[in-house]
Order: sequence, then structure tokens, then C-alpha cells
Amino acid sequence: MLHAVIMAGGSGTRFWPASRTLRPKQLLTLHGDRTMIQSTIDRLGDLVPASRQMIVTNKVLVDAIAEQLPSLLPKNIVGEPCKRDTAPCVGLAAALVHHEDNDAIMAVMPSDHVITSHEAFQAAIAAGEALIKEDPTRIVTYGIPPKYAAESFGYVERGEPIAAEGASVFQVKQFREKPDAETARRYLEAGSFYWNSGIFLWRASTILDALQKNEPEMYSHIAAIADRIGKPDYAETLEKEFAAIQGKSIDYAVMEQYPNVVVIEAEFPWDDVGSWQALSRLHEPDAAGNTVVGSHIGIDSRGCIVNTHDGHTVVTIDVDDLIVVQTPDATLVAPKHAEERVREVAKQLKEKG
Ligand code: GDD
Ligand code: MG
Repeated sequence: MLHAVIMAGGSGTRFWPASRTLRPKQLLTLHGDRTMIQSTIDRLGDLVPASRQMIVTNKVLVDAIAEQLPSLLPKNIVGEPCKRDTAPCVGLAAALVHHEDNDAIMAVMPSDHVITSHEAFQAAIAAGEALIKEDPTRIVTYGIPPKYAAESFGYVERGEPIAAEGASVFQVKQFREKPDAETARRYLEAGSFYWNSGIFLWRASTILDALQKNEPEMYSHIAAIADRIGKPDYAETLEKEFAAIQGKSIDYAVMEQYPNVVVIEAEFPWDDVGSWQALSRLHEPDAAGNTVVGSHIGIDSRGCIVNTHDGHTVVTIDVDDLIVVQTPDATLVAPKHAEERVREVAKQLKEKG
């Protein structure tokens, strides 16, 4: 049966000051009137019932997520004791899902995307499920036609086409996580690469086998946790074994090595809401090219991104391409070109304690 697993333990530090340790990006409303994680669940529609929807996050976020998503079963909001990136998250989810359902197929997805067409998304997941039923050892990825030479995404090179109903599908020649600028440029020019959307489909047993093969040390801790599912010492084992894992993303741990990956060209509009500049893709700019969420008076100001709260008004005079984000207790002012450096704030605040 199909299960949905949503990875929601990231910290979204480039969205400071809106994104905080206890209210990271996935819990914010950046588009429409639902938070990122609510939209991720909405997108599933009737594809997967609530009993087979799982969210894996950091334990400090479990209560806030439960509040935002009352339809989820409490046991399906899984709290990790510490941050270890996405491979351990996937391993833990696979162990839990596999324990319930030996033949489970997992649709694994991030919680930091805007995908506006639910129908196209659901059709793509259904097409992926059919491809796995055809060959159970397959891993299915979704490829986004690249728009520029991004260094912040993984890339998937398509090989031979595979016959599939209603979808463009290819065997994957190579998967390369976050290449450097020069390599990304080459990939873009080659015309045969997609961005990795970060959405994957696999049988729970396939991904557990792949982790066992590629990351035996990590797998041994996951297996120790799996062994105690449903037992009185489960929580204690999870705490101890998960903390002992070395962090790694699933892209490096499995995707770059796995021999049987297929890519479905995504027909759905997709946006990775990575940093403040994403707001200008999600909201229509004003006549001067300023993107405003909240209240802004721009005098000779062009190309700014302004986000304010509670009726607070920001005025900019004679400035171009500034990001101004105001929240009740902190304000960010930065030129757009330095937006990547916003992540330094979280680090500095942590150091200060
Ligand atoms: N549970 C859990 N635990 N979730 C996590 C953790 C963790 O320790 N770390 C990250 N996540 C969640 C994030 O909240 C996000 O929803 C998802 O996992 C992906 O993590 P990111 O940190 O946002 O990854 P990325 O954007 O740098 O890269 C991935 O996504 C790109 C597309 O957006 C990769 O898969 C790339 O190849 C891909 O192009
Ligand atoms: Mg991301």
C-alpha cells in the first residue's frame, strides 16, 4: 500500500527572522493561507488516507505540527531526538512503515515546496507507484526542468526512455547532489539533466536494503530502533541509537549510488521556497518591482522584498534590491545579493546562547 512520509525537521535558517528554532519555515505561511506543512498534506488529497500519512520532524516541533494538522494520528508525527539530516529520517520512517506493512511503498517528500497543481502532483505519484509495482527494486524521482545553473539542488541525468502511461519517464544515468557552479553550468547546457525535486518513491524494504548496503553503520542503529518498535523501551532506544548516527542526507547516502533509479518529468509547477527572494516568485510585484507582504511605502525604491506584520509599515527611500523583514522582536535588512548569508544569523545567535 502507498504511504506518505513528509520530512519536516529542517531549520530553514535563510528565512530568519520569520523562521526560528521552534517555528521553522515549514510551520510558516509563505504562500496562500496555509502553512508549508499544511499545504504539503493538502496536496495529497485522497491519494493516501490520514492513517498512512507520517511526518518526521524534530521532537521539539511535534506539538506545533500536531496543532497545525489535527487530522494526523499522534503516532504518525514522529519526533527525532536530534538533527541528523534526511538519511536517518528516511531510515526511521522506513522502519516504522515496514513494521506495519511489509509491502509498503513510501512517497517521501520535503515540506518546503510550493506545488500549485494538486491533480498533476497526485497523477505523478500514482504513475510512480505503478512503476514500482512493475519493478519493486526501482527508486522513482521527480525531475524539474532546470531554469538556471543552481548549486543548491541535486541533478538527475536522464538516460533511456521507459514506457509509462501518461508520464515521461527515463532510466537515470547519474544522480549528482549539489554540484559546484561550473558543473551545474555544464549540466544546464547539456540539456539532459533535471533538478532533483527532492520527492522520492520506493518500497520501504528497498530503501532499508540500500541503507544497509551503503551505510552499514547508520543502518545498524536504525535496525536496533526497528527491533524495539512497540516495546516498552522503544523511546529510550530511539533516543540513544538515533543520537549515535552520523548525519547525512539521503541524496549522498543512497541516491548518488543506487543503480536502479528512474525519473518522471514533473508536470506540476514546482518552487523550492529556499530564501526570501522566493517571495518575488510567489507574489505579484508592484509597479516598481517591489514584492510586498504587509505594508510598505516605497519612494524611489525598486526591486525590494518587504515583509511586515501586524500593520507595521516599512518605508524605503532611494534604495534598490533590499530585503526588509520585520517581525515583533527582530528585523532583517540585507541586500538581495547577500541573502545566502542570512543563515549566518542563526549560527551567531546560537553562539551567543
Ligand atoms: N525529519 C527531518 N530531519 N527532516 C529534515 C532534516 C532532519 O534532520 N533535515 C532536513 N529535513 C527536511 C527539511 O525540512 C525539508 O523538508 C527536507 O527534509 C529536505 O531538506 P533540505 O535541507 O531542505 O534539503 P535541500 O533543499 O538542501 O536539498 C534537497 O532538496 C532539493 C530540492 O528542494 C535535496 O534532495 C536536493 O537534491 C533537492 O534538489
Ligand atoms: Mg530544501
